Amino acid sequence: MPPFPLPVLAAVLLLCLATPHAAGNPLDPPATPTPTPTPWPHQFHAKLLMDYKGNLSLADLWYDWPGGRNLHVIRYQLAADAPYYDAEWNNGTSFFYTPARRACRSAAVGVGILRPDWLAPGAAYLGRAPADGFDCHVWAKADFITYYEDAQTRRPVKWIFYTGK
Ligand SMILES: *[C@@H]1O[C@H](CO)[C@@H](O)[C@H](O)[C@H]1NC(C)=O
Ligand SMILES: *[C@@H]1O[C@H](CO)[C@@H](O)[C@H](O)[C@H]1NC(C)=O
Repeated sequence: MPPFPLPVLAAVLLLCLATPHAAGNPLDPPATPTPTPTPWPHQFHAKLLMDYKGNLSLADLWYDWPGGRNLHVIRYQLAADAPYYDAEWNNGTSFFYTPARRACRSAAVGVGILRPDWLAPGAAYLGRAPADGFDCHVWAKADFITYYEDAQTRRPVKWIFYTGK
């Protein structure tokens, strides 16, 4: 192996030495800003694999913030009457319907859909952790959710809701 080229080594050392000065007072700890969750796009379609107490389902989520609505189309595993629709409106009304059974009900949920930046206020950064093979930033919001976001692409990878049930 050829000897390590000296100019490169010198450059690396210089970079190391220069870093503390770039960050301000050399006695300060390195300034690593705490990552903040990336807001959701105002409209998107996502495919979700959901696990509710071992009850698995595949869902399409259409999120529409300008339209004030959120649609989940859910297929429970082996369910003969799939799909099941959950349409949430920003005025606090939700509709749950199963066209195969011509069944429908509505509910006054009382809250609207999630804002695109719903996670940031009050979220605690828990650090990095792997999820589904991705290196993720992790945040928690008290008694509500743990949220994993791919550190590289800033896309959500996984979240765990606590329903309290
Ligand atoms: C599990 O899924 C079935 C549909 O396959 C549904 O009828 C049932 O209510 C679900 N159970 C729970 C606990 O969510
Ligand atoms: C909320 O909006 C939906 C869709 O426009 C409507 O069907 C529903 O009646 C509204 N609910 C209330 C309480 O206004």
